[in-house]
Amino acid sequence: ARTYVITGSASGIGAATAQILRDRGDRVIGIDLKDADIEADLSLPQGRADAAARAIELSGGTIDAVIASAGISAPIAKTISVNYFGVTELLTALSPALAASDSPRAVAVSSMASLQPNSPELVEAALAGDEDKALEIAHRLADQGPEVGYAIYPSSKRALARWVRRASISPEWAGAGIPLNAVAPGIVVTPMTADLLATPEGTKMVDAAVPMPLNGHQPPESIAHMLVWLTSPENTHVAGQVIYNDGGADATLRGDDI
Ligand code: NAI
Repeated sequence: ARTYVITGSASGIGAATAQILRDRGDRVIGIDLKDADIEADLSLPQGRADAAARAIELSGGTIDAVIASAGISAPIAKTISVNYFGVTELLTALSPALAASDSPRAVAVSSMASLQPNSPELVEAALAGDEDKALEIAHRLADQGPEVGYAIYPSSKRALARWVRRASISPEWAGAGIPLNAVAPGIVVTPMTADLLATPEGTKMVDAAVPMPLNGHQPPESIAHMLVWLTSPENTHVAGQVIYNDGGADATLRGDDI
């Protein structure tokens, strides 16, 4: 049995992934705001540090895989803290415990939304590791109302995708034998999208922004099985990839532009 740390384990994609792994006999250490083995707020530096220390303690010092699914999509400044710093700082803090495993793996959940209009200034501040500046920019966007503030979410996911690509080939990850990747879902039916999909207007808006010609809106399990494979010992050479698992949304929107 392997030991997995899963953030966002209490709901949606994280919960579906935890379920698959527990059902087959693996050990899951869940991190979430509540209803988890470790209750921590990943929007805060102290929450990340506490969660990492506790996960290492509970694991006994060796973690076989980390699956970072916790995230929020609200047009608020906190979104950059949870979706970018809450993932990158936690992964970095857990990497020594991963390196102690025979077959360590890590994956983050980005989004096809990373392709949507975003704030390059916010993306750069995040990648520079400057959370204060990123929050300042995000607050400025959020203060201009939800339409402008929405850019915080795609910005957080684009920055995360870029961080994964950069970090994946570094001595700390590839050099330590740890495949690090990201998955980019389309519209997944979870509590995150429930309000949006509850009305015909919301659904119409979503479907215009995220066309999914293959099978439409997806269940969390459609992402969970891919997260399980990417963090399995069978994945020996997939590194630094942002894998679009989105019903064809990326192929529709970007076409040949890759
Ligand atoms: P969800 O809302 O069902 O689950 C997210 C979990 O993250 C919740 O349990 C929540 O408590 C936890 N979380 C939020 N803020 C936290 C914090 N500060 N500290 C610790 N835990 C926190 O959402 P879902 O759909 O499962 O989303 C999982 C990931 O997938 C997110 O990163 C999201 O951005 C991404 N995603 C979701 C899509 C969708 O259509 N649902 C599409 C593309 C990406």
